[in-house]
Amino acid sequence: MLIVFGSINMDYGVRVEKFPQAGQTLLSPSYDIGAGGKGANQSLACARMGVKTALVGMVGDDAMGTKILNNLRRNEVMTSGVGVSDDVPTGMAFVLTNHVGENQIVVCSGANALTSAAQVPDEILKDGNVVLMQMEVPLAENLAVMERARAHGAKVVLNLAPAYQISQKALEHVDYLIVNESEAQAIAALVGIGASQDYMVLARVLAAKSGHACIITLGAKGAIAFEADGKGWRVPALEIKEVVDTTGAGDCFCGTFAAAIHAKFALGTALRKASVAAGLSCTKKGAQESFPYLADIEAALEDFPQAIPC
Ligand code: RIB
Repeated sequence: MLIVFGSINMDYGVRVEKFPQAGQTLLSPSYDIGAGGKGANQSLACARMGVKTALVGMVGDDAMGTKILNNLRRNEVMTSGVGVSDDVPTGMAFVLTNHVGENQIVVCSGANALTSAAQVPDEILKDGNVVLMQMEVPLAENLAVMERARAHGAKVVLNLAPAYQISQKALEHVDYLIVNESEAQAIAALVGIGASQDYMVLARVLAAKSGHACIITLGAKGAIAFEADGKGWRVPALEIKEVVDTTGAGDCFCGTFAAAIHAKFALGTALRKASVAAGLSCTKKGAQESFPYLADIEAALEDFPQAIPC
């Protein structure tokens, strides 16, 4: 089983030509409302890969929470581990997307701030299971789940998004660290590596220093992955005609990657599958609603290059 411990939001998406500057007001003709939250998004991407997936998180006792959970259940995500707060509303995210599909996001945590490690029973942290986490729930709760997962045998995949101050000691509980370019820079400084634009070097050193695999997503430049022993792979980004919206692409990558690791695929193969899924998600609007099905991923993989050792 794959356990996703993380945030659940309702996303309010607004399209703008350019992002506003301080003090500027912009008009946008419409907005979209869709299910989001890095945890919920990643759980849906895992389930789309056909892996038994349970989401653990918190929503408020409101229409948004109900709508998001219903959508997850329709997509085969188990939600019995999601708690409902009587007092605090479901998390919300305001997502601005510009004309080239880039986004800026503000998350209002709401009930996500109440997410607790106590919601995860020890029995599901056993060997053979995988726990996938991000950084939109309280750090202390993430750390507690990581430590218990390590003690009980489950593998830990940490998507350090948004970038956060996490100690080197905490990283010792992680088996796979997934970051984008800016998050890689932040974590590099944290573990005492100088900032570098050479992401190959960064991923290799990060993996060696922390003793776990390090995966860096590079947007249009593809993705790279290094084992602690220095073995690495790179893949290009999937070629797509038009980038419509990159919201949730990182989550689609992480969920697909974790599902592939759960299914015991090798690191290079997991990297390839995740990159293809993330690429496909950029061809549609929104987060969860843009995620591809397994059949779409498999079809796109047929023409996608093999991971190159580096
Ligand atoms: O990664 C994209 C997600 O970040 C959005 O769905 C939003 O809810 C925020 O959590």
